[in-house]
Amino acid sequence: MTINGRHIDQRTVRSALALAAAAPSVHNSQPWRWVVGPHTIHLHADLARWLPATDADGRDMIVSCGAALHHARVALAAAGLASSVHRMPNRDEPDHLAAVALHPRPADDTDLTLAAAILRRRTDRRRFTDWEVPSAFIDELSERAAEQGALLRPVTAARSRGRLLEAIQAAAEAQESNVAYLAERAIRTGCHADVEGIPAVNLLRDAVVSGGGTAMQFSDGLVEQPSDGAPDGALLTVLATGSDDPLSQLRAGEALSAVLLHATELGLATCPLSRPLEVGTSRRTVRDEVLEGTAAPQLVLRVGWAPLGSPVRPTPRRPIDDMIKQFAL
Ligand SMILES: Cc1cc2nc3c(=O)[nH]c(=O)nc-3n(C[C@H](O)[C@H](O)[C@H](O)COP(=O)(O)O)c2cc1C
Repeated sequence: MTINGRHIDQRTVRSALALAAAAPSVHNSQPWRWVVGPHTIHLHADLARWLPATDADGRDMIVSCGAALHHARVALAAAGLASSVHRMPNRDEPDHLAAVALHPRPADDTDLTLAAAILRRRTDRRRFTDWEVPSAFIDELSERAAEQGALLRPVTAARSRGRLLEAIQAAAEAQESNVAYLAERAIRTGCHADVEGIPAVNLLRDAVVSGGGTAMQFSDGLVEQPSDGAPDGALLTVLATGSDDPLSQLRAGEALSAVLLHATELGLATCPLSRPLEVGTSRRTVRDEVLEGTAAPQLVLRVGWAPLGSPVRPTPRRPIDDMIKQFAL
């Protein structure tokens, strides 16, 4: 690949995209594919990996792709390639989410430390300690979200937090009685998980005890926390955007990645929760009664301090060759 007369090593682009594959995604579905062209790389939603019973309107799929897009920009920057992004470049092809033009530019320390956070970040579904998240840290996370065009709203008022917990619970009840949802989840988690899906070693056995009622319960989860009666100390936040179209969802995913990587740099543990937004009535509760109708909720995020004990294991990813199509070298 040659850009502005300068040669860009294909292996560099490939290894940056391999690092970006560590981006979080709904049920670890990794619903993206990359097409590497002569001057630009293209991000597409991989519709074959869409989970229609879980994610009927495709929001989680596009948010996941947005996270992969931001991870890719971070990984490319650390490899000496700055990027300019054209989002939703083709009106006739809605699954073509972004065209990313590359420009050689030396990496600086910020690029390198952010890229290093990609490998340390994990979804941590355990109950967090009761140490408070300092307000300066919350401000920094909100700034990272704002830089990507999204809003990160901490839910601290007792009434709003109560309504959010009710929405999480109501969504859980609706999904647990939906056979199509249960079937989709079963083939994506526990002993069936391989290079996609979530292995049992990263799932809670009992969410009510371990995750304070906010994390998802999986019957074949292996992670247990002693029940010492302590409540979950996680700060609940809502990631939201001004509109609720695919472009906003893509930007929400980019903001999610920016927030998660910065939280990792700060030593904070995180856990995305999409469940309350996957069920229409719960999503409307979050929009109207938690955000007071001011913004469209895209994801709930638990943020806090992880309990002492074994670190969370990395969740496997698909081979990179499965995600990339290369043409016109
Ligand atoms: C859009 C989106 C929705 C998610 N929803 C949930 C969720 O509701 N509950 C949960 O425990 N994890 C959720 N996750 C986290 C994924 O399960 C996790 O990213 C994936 O299993 C890969 O693991 P890792 O984040 O540790 O690399 C979500 C992630 C994304 C990007």
